[in-house]
Amino acid sequence: AATLAAAAQQSGRYFGTAVAANKLGDSTYVGILNREFDMVTAENEMKMDATEPNQGQFSFGSGDRIVNHARNQGKRVRGHALAWHSQQPGWMQNMSGSALRQAMLNHVTQVASYYRGKIYAWDVVNEAYADGTSGARRDSNLQRTGNDWIEAAFRAARAADPGAKLCYNDYNTDNWSHAKTQGVYRMVQDFKSRGVPIDCVGFQAHFNSGNPVPSNYHTTLQNFANLGVDVQITELDIEGSGSTQAQQYQGVVQACLAVSRCTGITVWGIRDSDSWRASGTPLLFDNYGNKKAAYTSVLNVL
Ligand code: XIL
Repeated sequence: AATLAAAAQQSGRYFGTAVAANKLGDSTYVGILNREFDMVTAENEMKMDATEPNQGQFSFGSGDRIVNHARNQGKRVRGHALAWHSQQPGWMQNMSGSALRQAMLNHVTQVASYYRGKIYAWDVVNEAYADGTSGARRDSNLQRTGNDWIEAAFRAARAADPGAKLCYNDYNTDNWSHAKTQGVYRMVQDFKSRGVPIDCVGFQAHFNSGNPVPSNYHTTLQNFANLGVDVQITELDIEGSGSTQAQQYQGVVQACLAVSRCTGITVWGIRDSDSWRASGTPLLFDNYGNKKAAYTSVLNVL
């Protein structure tokens, strides 16, 4: 196959990218987007602060530009993200208790309802677990509304868009031996055993020298899949360059291909210059839109 999407489709998977609405006028960017990818995630435009800037006043213009572009090009959309401790609108940051719980659930309901039928999978809850060795939930205003806030969000999302797959999404959950990975695993296990609606787990996969691609990645993905959920690589980027970076990208793709329920891979941006990382060259295309060694290694192994 000649493109990432076509290569991924050979095994029934997708290959996606994060997209920023304000780059949809950049012809180099859009050319690569339209050619190479068949799944799109809004990089910021569907987050809580973007979609509900004032309480009860929803704003879908930027999200719509991305969703419409994707759908007009025959691409699917991952929704990102309904509930998260970060990138909350100011009004929400200052809320707590039952008022916050109600506001969060209303947000989930309104946004998932607005996009009903257009979203392949929603990141319903993003980054709710703590780093380090506790394996516990992260402290946040949402967590302080009660430990059941995550399942409440999933139930609200299911009711609002029954056709969307509902994902839990997090970072540093790639290494099977890490406490954070185990904490998320136990939550998913608990949700499945109690019938809380969850369909997929997203692995952000932001890698660098301090957080390398783990050698047991395939084990992690398979263990989650064995709980009865799909798994997806949702925000892949790998700091580095040349053949070292290319090999690491290849390892991530191979880990996904080895797990039948790993349904697709999304990179977090197109060109290195599009990356959220302040420095470095973590993506598959260089600043000019040329294919890097990492691109070729991914295409060859898909
Ligand atoms: C990042 C965006 O790429 C940046 O533009 C923004 O300033 C901050 O958020 N985990 C996530 C993504 O789930 O939403 C984050 O995206 C990167 C980390």
